Amino acid sequence: MKIVFYSPGKKVQPWLDSLAANLPSADIWAWSPQSADQQADYAVVWAPPSELFAPQQKLKAVFNIGAGADRVLRIPHVDGLLRGIPVVRLNDAGMSAQMAEYVCHALFRHTREFAEYEAHQRDNKWKTLPALDRANWQVGVMGLGAIGARVAGAVAGFDFPVKGWSRTPKELANITTYAGAEQFDAFLADTRVLVCVLPLTPATEGILNARTLGRLKPKSILINVARGEHLVEDDLLAMLATGHLAGATLDVFREEPLPSGHEFWDHPKITVTPHIAAITLVEKSAAQIAQKIRAMESGQPIEGVVDRSRGY
Ligand code: NAP
Ligand code: GLV
Repeated sequence: MKIVFYSPGKKVQPWLDSLAANLPSADIWAWSPQSADQQADYAVVWAPPSELFAPQQKLKAVFNIGAGADRVLRIPHVDGLLRGIPVVRLNDAGMSAQMAEYVCHALFRHTREFAEYEAHQRDNKWKTLPALDRANWQVGVMGLGAIGARVAGAVAGFDFPVKGWSRTPKELANITTYAGAEQFDAFLADTRVLVCVLPLTPATEGILNARTLGRLKPKSILINVARGEHLVEDDLLAMLATGHLAGATLDVFREEPLPSGHEFWDHPKITVTPHIAAITLVEKSAAQIAQKIRAMESGQPIEGVVDRSRGY
């Protein structure tokens, strides 16, 4: 079995080693323009160039080394290049726990006013701020998939009131759920902490805009851990300027790395992290991909095949 690997930003050798450890008989190589004609059965990729796929004649599947497959689905001419070839994304693979940690940390930082206490320490000031009233902190989680459902459950575990929104109806313990565009406004009403864990699709691009943010309670908080393209950046800046939003924690950006000089870097109400809310864990992910390859080779169904018409 032949496997081509490509990832521009991630360390290649640990991936090659982990895939080889899980699939000892496979011939695995890192893609380069010089090796482009070498034929593979499977591609394991992050943000691949379209030139990787053009010469391939017998690909059986493309494995995306992330939960969101948008960087594969958005390559030019993808429908022609990958006609009939399944694109498979990671299912959790250790990311949901990281994401739950990240979102809870961002939530507590705002609700328990840790930034304020840090400022007090700098001034050697001993001062108790009012206790948290959770009833005033309705949390709304957009996306209730492998990661969003875990995030919503983790937040609910700390007794916050939690709503969740997905495309199709869901039943989750301790979460009030909403589904579809028709229930979006009801989901937003009373929400004070909006958490985005959606995939990037034509239906969700730009969804964090003035209309959406304007429907939140005054002094709301935005936590975006999904994709930068979900956010209309100028709308966020305008809402922070009026005070309708009290703060934002952003892990993902339209341009990554976030360019130097970008207004978000030094904004007093914005916390920036470099797309680390849930880091792809090489060993867990390689093991999951290998298990799916073995299943495909023996004609078994696999989880995580992207529905190209939905875009996730
Ligand atoms: P998933 O399992 O596919 O879940 C996606 C969820 O979004 C589902 O609940 C789905 O609804 C919902 N959804 C999709 N389109 C929608 C729409 N138009 N309206 C309402 N709900 C919609 O994905 P996942 O594994 O949880 O990952 C979610 C995203 O997290 C990824 O796509 C990626 O963008 C992001 N991510 C970021 C990082 C990071 O480090 N920042 C790491 C990993 C993932 P249904 O349940 O009805 O299908
Ligand atoms: C990372 O952003 C992922 O989609 O896994």
